[in-house]
Amino acid sequence: MAEPTCGRARIAVLISGSGTNMAALLYASRQGAPFEIVLVASNDPHAGGLSLAEAEGIPTFSLSHKGMQRAEHDAAMDAAIRKSGAEYVALAGYMRVLSDEMVQRWEGRMLNIHPSLLPKYKGLDPHARALEAGDEVAGASVHLVTTELDGGEVLGRAEVAIMGGDTPETLALRVKIAEHQLYPQVLGAYVSRGSDPDYLLGRLRELALALPEAEEQASHGSPAFKIAGKSGKFFAHFADRHHGAEQIAVLAKTSGQDELADLVERDPGVFFRPAYYHASGWVGITLNRPDCDWDQVQHWLERSWRSVAPKRLTKLRDAADEF
Ligand code: GAR
Repeated sequence: MAEPTCGRARIAVLISGSGTNMAALLYASRQGAPFEIVLVASNDPHAGGLSLAEAEGIPTFSLSHKGMQRAEHDAAMDAAIRKSGAEYVALAGYMRVLSDEMVQRWEGRMLNIHPSLLPKYKGLDPHARALEAGDEVAGASVHLVTTELDGGEVLGRAEVAIMGGDTPETLALRVKIAEHQLYPQVLGAYVSRGSDPDYLLGRLRELALALPEAEEQASHGSPAFKIAGKSGKFFAHFADRHHGAEQIAVLAKTSGQDELADLVERDPGVFFRPAYYHASGWVGITLNRPDCDWDQVQHWLERSWRSVAPKRLTKLRDAADEF
């Protein structure tokens, strides 16, 4: 999954209609949400949201898809998005199915809002379908866009009660009010996750616990990972801005002071000397940085694990690697 960047994230919003969700994102950004809207683009030059964006001083781009091949239209939209400097794309009532190539190009950086409680009612007419099914609640979901229609990971949902006498139209109106709260909140959390210790620890935990016989055990009050069993040694510590440091980091074992010094000198944006631990050859690897390289983190976890794991385990690992 693509990684978040520093500062306020730059967002391109794609619309086909009135653009009320785009407006909700725009006004949230003006109220201090951690993103800014750098482009509003549409496949319909008459989309109402375009004139609102213009009035608000946001750059716009429109290109009718009529008479164009899907790939050709997507490529033109993509070029405009890239030119705007956007790092993320938020689909907000963009009623064109995107080509697989376009979706793959923005993998992990493209979100969509859909007016149902996904995975229920993907595709068209979700309100009518919820009413027909006799549901008591409807709602909206924000999800990552993948090549499966409305099928990517759901990042957040808002529930809306269905009332007696609701029609698809009355229900859609209330769901939209909920959408306008949900989208800015979920987008803001998503683009900020790279400086969120819970998110970073979650990813680290997944990698660390995938190593053979690894277990989590707090050390000096912080999450840490060790080889299971009473005498099992620690191979990774999670350090959330310890001792006044700026870094949210994982500490891993190097081969000693020479390697530690070399790493810190070569790449000070990634590696640092952690307080106290550096004396025993541990290096800090910064996680709260733009485009954190999780393959590199995994590499260091494995190395560190190998340096403390009993031979019995490293031998098995070697055999598995050769296989
Ligand atoms: C919103 O309700 C959004 O969830 C929906 O279109 C509407 C756009 O309204 N999107 C979809 O149905 C996507 N499958 P808006 O233009 O006022 O934001």
